[in-house]
Amino acid sequence: MEESRICIALDFKTKNDVEEFLKKFGDEKLYVKVGMELFYGEGIEMVKMIKAMGHKIFLDLKLHDIPNTVKSAMRQLAKLDVDIVNVHASGGIEMMKAAIQGLEEGKQGGKRPLCIAVTCLTSLDQDVLDNQLLIHEPLNEVVLKWAENAKEAGLDGVVCSPLESKLIHDHLGMDFLTVTPGIRLATDSVNDQKRVTTPAMAKELTSSYIVVGRTITASADPLATYKQVYQDFQGE
Ligand code: C5P
Repeated sequence: MEESRICIALDFKTKNDVEEFLKKFGDEKLYVKVGMELFYGEGIEMVKMIKAMGHKIFLDLKLHDIPNTVKSAMRQLAKLDVDIVNVHASGGIEMMKAAIQGLEEGKQGGKRPLCIAVTCLTSLDQDVLDNQLLIHEPLNEVVLKWAENAKEAGLDGVVCSPLESKLIHDHLGMDFLTVTPGIRLATDSVNDQKRVTTPAMAKELTSSYIVVGRTITASADPLATYKQVYQDFQGE
């Protein structure tokens, strides 16, 4: 079986909740996303627990600070031997380059974590860009420019909507990763995401990885739902 490119968003409060959830997957090797709430609450011990179970981790902390601070923070995160970390592209090219330097300095076993950039948060729209941030270019051009900056800085990809994935791949090449949340199965009831895409559509739209939260975590049978998502996104 091909390595999983489905990042299950572990949006739980405690290490205990995570442990209970992961038990349901038996020997299946997963890719999981640990966000700010869980990391700030349970931190390094929990990351070590997940790694010890053999899963891969996308540590979603979205760093954004002066280059020197981001570099030293990334040096520390690389020591945790996580697989993907991220920054805000709006921190600029120097900051993103510093992130990569820090990861190189802290890497374990010869391989640094992949580093991707958040372009424009999906909670921002053209009105916020225009009237609060005084950015008057069209939003999709801002997303593309910031993705280009990320590539120029040596990053491995971006977090974006599946609907932006093809545009980014057309301009920046298929090797530049697109990691895309906002995924729902056609049968799902959970729907606070504004624009949603099924795993099969995300595959068609060239997403490199998909981030799936409640569709799997809130399912009555998370393993069966995960297998369905896997089949739709990665199956033949
Ligand atoms: O439960 P759901 O599938 O909506 O979870 C999606 C995950 O992806 C959550 O952890 C959410 O914070 C994250 N995310 C997102 N939209 C973005 C960026 C991140 O839904 N634009």
